[in-house]
Order: sequence, then structure tokens, then C-alpha cells
Amino acid sequence: MYRDLREFLARLEREGHLRHVRREVDRDLELAHVAKVNEQESGPALLFDRVKGYPGTSVLTSAFTSRERVALALDLPPETRFLEIARSWVQRIKDKRVPPVEVASGACQEVVQKGDDADLDSLPSPWFYPKDGGRYVGTAAYLVSRNLETGRLNLGTYRVMVIDGKRAGIQIIKAKDAEIDLRGYAAAKRPMPVALVIGGDPLLFLCSSTLFPLTESEYEVVGALRDAPVPVVRAETSDLLVPADAEIVIEGEIVPGELLPEGPFGEYPGYYTGAGAVDREYIRVTCITRRRDPILWSTTVGKPITDTHMIMGINRTASLWNDLQNMKIPGIMGVYGPPAAAGRMLAIIQLKQMYHGHSTQVGLAAFATVTGNYGLKTVILVDEDIDPENMDQVMYALAFRYQPDRGTQILERGRSTPLDPSLPIEQRYMTSRVILDTCIPYEWDHKPMPIEMDEALVKRIRSEWASYFEEPAKARPRGKELVGV
Ligand SMILES: Cc1cc2nc3c(=O)[nH]c(=O)nc-3n(C[C@H](O)[C@H](O)[C@H](O)COP(=O)(O)O)c2cc1C
Repeated sequence: MYRDLREFLARLEREGHLRHVRREVDRDLELAHVAKVNEQESGPALLFDRVKGYPGTSVLTSAFTSRERVALALDLPPETRFLEIARSWVQRIKDKRVPPVEVASGACQEVVQKGDDADLDSLPSPWFYPKDGGRYVGTAAYLVSRNLETGRLNLGTYRVMVIDGKRAGIQIIKAKDAEIDLRGYAAAKRPMPVALVIGGDPLLFLCSSTLFPLTESEYEVVGALRDAPVPVVRAETSDLLVPADAEIVIEGEIVPGELLPEGPFGEYPGYYTGAGAVDREYIRVTCITRRRDPILWSTTVGKPITDTHMIMGINRTASLWNDLQNMKIPGIMGVYGPPAAAGRMLAIIQLKQMYHGHSTQVGLAAFATVTGNYGLKTVILVDEDIDPENMDQVMYALAFRYQPDRGTQILERGRSTPLDPSLPIEQRYMTSRVILDTCIPYEWDHKPMPIEMDEALVKRIRSEWASYFEEPAKARPRGKELVGV
């Protein structure tokens, strides 16, 4: 496993998955546009070595825009299939949590900037798209907060826009863990101490954007995934614990009820969230700690496939699968949240039917999980012989096994995300949902008879495959035989 982001980047570079951008770039638009063009060409992760006006700080983009790099973050062979990456995730965290370990010092505090020095403009936060409301310091960052009642430390990825040197607007969508934490501080009439972290083991970022139950700390899940505790240090200005090997930590507090305009920001559905800037909570910065030569990790957004799509593709697939497994429903063979759907709007679930109504149970259960409850709109159910990761097979099932009146169940009044552009901007907290059940009904006595090959013959053909393409042995020409006699 990786100690920190640098070890991960070294591995990416060794395996040809990372390229340095040597030319100087402007953090306003140019950097993000180079990253987007590279992503459109399915390019590697990019490390911008020279950002104009910011010597000594580099910017990383596109770390997770390919399945291979997500596999490498989990220390799996790069060719591992998506479903297998998710299966490994589910197995590693099954009934296991590893608490973080507090250490005396960490690279994340090599430089401590307090007072006037704690200036957000000391970091090369990129401006991504022309119509964005500002520069974003937090795209591949996670916010650490503590629940006042339980003491649980939460790690959550929420976008963060620089307002000025001391203030950063944050979009914590309703009912996310940090928003629920904030309700506790509001009731106690106290500001909520927070730390916005960039870097550390890349699994920290992968997990901070996963929907775990409110009571769970992502530190402990990451500990289970990497099979070793996350080393943490005490923050400079609060009792929060932050990853010792992080690149940058922005410490501060959020005052409940104090709002400032944030956004707009081009989001992963390919659209701006709303009509313009929205008043949101913001971080009052008290201190910035960092490495001497920090890496500001950023993710581009916009249409698929960006980091966000790939990250949520893997973490929503794994967490939905994990949730279903915890419900102890038998027969679930595979779960796939395609990256193009950001892993969350649509899921394909493969099952081996074992009793009447089994497939309906699985479809309904998916929407009832912690993961599926939030914004999942479509569940496609497929039988055990359909590979959910193979779109040709899924289309085949939809075309030939799905029967609209029998296989469609529409549900209403589900929890939605304000980012879903299929809903009117003012009504985005509720969505309808649909189950598309392509499974051949369990109760049918007479099931369609599948066409199958003769397996023994297939085996022989495979073992003699090359011989089917050899020139036939030449027959000896009769006439010549005679000549020689
Ligand atoms: C790159 C990226 C950016 C995200 N931005 C936001 C955001 O601005 N606001 C938000 O509420 N969720 C955002 N999410 C989704 C949350 O990270 C996700 O719902 C996560 O579960 C939140 O943590 P929590 O469950 O501890 O609240 C983002 C996810 C990714 C991968």
C-alpha cells in the first residue's frame, strides 16, 4: 500500500500512467483546459511542474480518469476488471475497521502558515471553466469534521471555492455527514472546527467521496482497505486529526448560518448546478500547513469521463454491493455502477434467482441502501449469465428478455441530488426511480430454451485451433511420380 500521494505517483510514473507538463501554465483556465484535452484523448495523469507565479508547488490532475489507475490505487494489477476491483474493495472491508494511529509529527506540517501568512492565494488553485464563479482549491480534497455528540471524525469530499485569502465557500449538500455534524454545532451555538486536506494515501480521497453510514469514520474504512492504520497528527489550531502524510491542510472553522455566494461550478453531469451563485457555508481559514514543495491535487469536472465519474463509479459500485451484502440477500453475483453514470444514477445488478419475487426484492433493496437511497434512479436487473460490465450483454438482456409491462416498476419520492439536470432546478431534492427487470421470470415452468454449443466439440476445436488455419498437406502430383520412374 502507499504511504502517501507521492508513492502512488511514483508507481504511476514507473508504469507509464503519469506525465509531467514541463511548460509553464496559467492556473486560470489554461491548466484545466490542458487537463481536459488530455482527458478527451484518454491520456495519463498530469503533473504540472510549473504553474505561473507559484514556483515550488505543482498541480496534479486526472489521477483517476482510467480504470487502470483506480486499480493501482488499490494495489491491484492495472488490468483488473471494474467488477473485480469492487469485489476486492467489498471483501477487504467486510467486518473490518482499523482506527487511525496518532503520530508525533508529519510531513503535512513541514511549513506552518498562521496569521497573515495563512493566505489561500499562496496556493495555485485552478479556475476550470469560463463561467465558473471562481478558483477552486478543493476538488480532490476532503473535509475533516468531528461529530459533537459521538466524537466520530468524518472525511467528506465537497467542492471548495476561494472567496478571498481567508475565506473559502463550500458546497455541503443537505444531509451529507458534515452538514449533519454542522447541525450539532448550530444547536450548541459554536463554530465547527474543520480541516480541508489534500493528499495522503489516495484511498483517503477515494473513501471520502463514498457514502458510508453517518456513524462510520472513513479513517477506519481506509485502514481496513490498506490493512494498516492511517497515521494522523493533531491539527495546529484544533483537536482534529489529519493525515500525517498529506500535502496541504487548510485549517479553519465553519460558522453555522453564516453564508456567502459560492459557484457556479461546472459539475460532473455536464451542466452547472443551478442558475448561478448560491449562498452557502464557508470556511474561515485560521492556518495552512503543508509540505515544503506541496502538490495541489485537483480533479476536472464536466462531461464524462472525469476523475469524478471514475471515482464514484468505483466507490458507489463497491458501497452499493457492500450495502446489499450487509442486507444478507442471497444470490447477488455482481454490481456495476458505470462510470459514465458516475456510478450513482444507474446500477446494473446481476443475480441468481432463488425464489419467487427475488429480483423485485433486489431492485427495491438497492434503492433502500445507504448508497442507493441517494440519487439512484435506474436499477437494471440481469440474470446470472449476463455480465453486468459488458454493455453488449446488458443491451441484449434489455432487448430480448425485458418485457416493459412486467419488468418495469416506477417508484416515486426518492431522495435526489441537486446536481441532476433531468429535474427542474427548483425541485431537485426528490426523484422518481425505475426498476428494469430483465430476468427471466423465476415462476415460469417453461423458460425459453437457450441455444448452447456442444461443449466437447468446442473443447476439441479450441485445442486444435491453429490447425484450422494451416495449409492442407499438398497431395503428391501423380504425373511427376511417373517421370521419375
Ligand atoms: C470529485 C468529487 C467532488 C464532489 N463534490 C461534492 C460537493 O461539492 N458537495 C457534496 O455534497 N458532495 C460532493 N461529492 C460527493 C460526496 O463526496 C459524497 O457524497 C460523500 O459521500 C460525502 O461524504 P459524506 O458521506 O461523509 O458526507 C463529490 C464527490 C467527488 C468524487
